[in-house]
Amino acid sequence: MYWCAIGSCQREYVVFTPLKTFTAKDFLERKNRVLHMNKPRTITLALTGASGMPYGIRLLECLLRAGVTVYLLYSQAAQIVARQEMDLSLPARARDAAEFFGTRFGTPPGQLQAFGREEWFAPVASGSNPADAMVICPCTMGTLAAIAAGMADNLIERAADVALKEARKLVLVPRETPLSAIHLENMLRVARAGAIILPANPGFYHHPQSVQGLVDFVVARILDHVGIEHDLMPRWGEAGNNEG
Ligand SMILES: Cc1cc2nc3c(=O)[nH]c(=O)nc-3n(C[C@H](O)[C@H](O)[C@H](O)COP(=O)(O)O)c2cc1C
Repeated sequence: MYWCAIGSCQREYVVFTPLKTFTAKDFLERKNRVLHMNKPRTITLALTGASGMPYGIRLLECLLRAGVTVYLLYSQAAQIVARQEMDLSLPARARDAAEFFGTRFGTPPGQLQAFGREEWFAPVASGSNPADAMVICPCTMGTLAAIAAGMADNLIERAADVALKEARKLVLVPRETPLSAIHLENMLRVARAGAIILPANPGFYHHPQSVQGLVDFVVARILDHVGIEHDLMPRWGEAGNNEG
């Protein structure tokens, strides 16, 4: 019996026995089964107080529409930025957020669960029950620094800490510009620990015609990284990717 890696993900393996011959069809069926098994079913989404709240809210919408169970966390500063950038009043109590967004996006009960900054009994606080992946979007330099230092002082920092130690995908979406040496060192530190730094830098090669087109560019890249299918924009090399 020996192990064979499938695809580019280091955690996707199947066991082969030398006695059975595998055809290309067997291989593809197994690969699809493994990919399906590994499709994230739960994603922790944290909104922090950086500019770029439309990215985070659009990501939440796309995750919910894709049927993903979302554990939503947001900081106090995120509430201020949401109001400033989107005229959006995030509920002061996290427990009201599930109904707030559930109504907005037509989400069935239970699919979205929101937790406050010190709800240490939330699933995401423990390595025994983490989400399949976590995204912090937008991500402040403060939260980035706390993660880089392993602070785990609130539920967002703790959930990120857990994602790293449990080798779950952690995607950080900073907006800050320019970046100081401290920011860059913190980014390198978390990247070395396994996080993905995905700056909110939209491209222009798809000829965006609106702010929504720019937002969707970044959200599409995040969804790609957490393995959620979407049709926000055509992929490079596919018909239509030169249109707006
Ligand atoms: C409108 C607004 C925009 C902000 N934009 C950023 C930003 O892009 N990046 C950043 O690191 N902090 C930004 N801040 C500052 C953070 O909100 C602040 O450092 C806060 O303490 C971060 O806390 P949190 O990481 O718990 O959300 C902004 C604040 C406001 C009010």
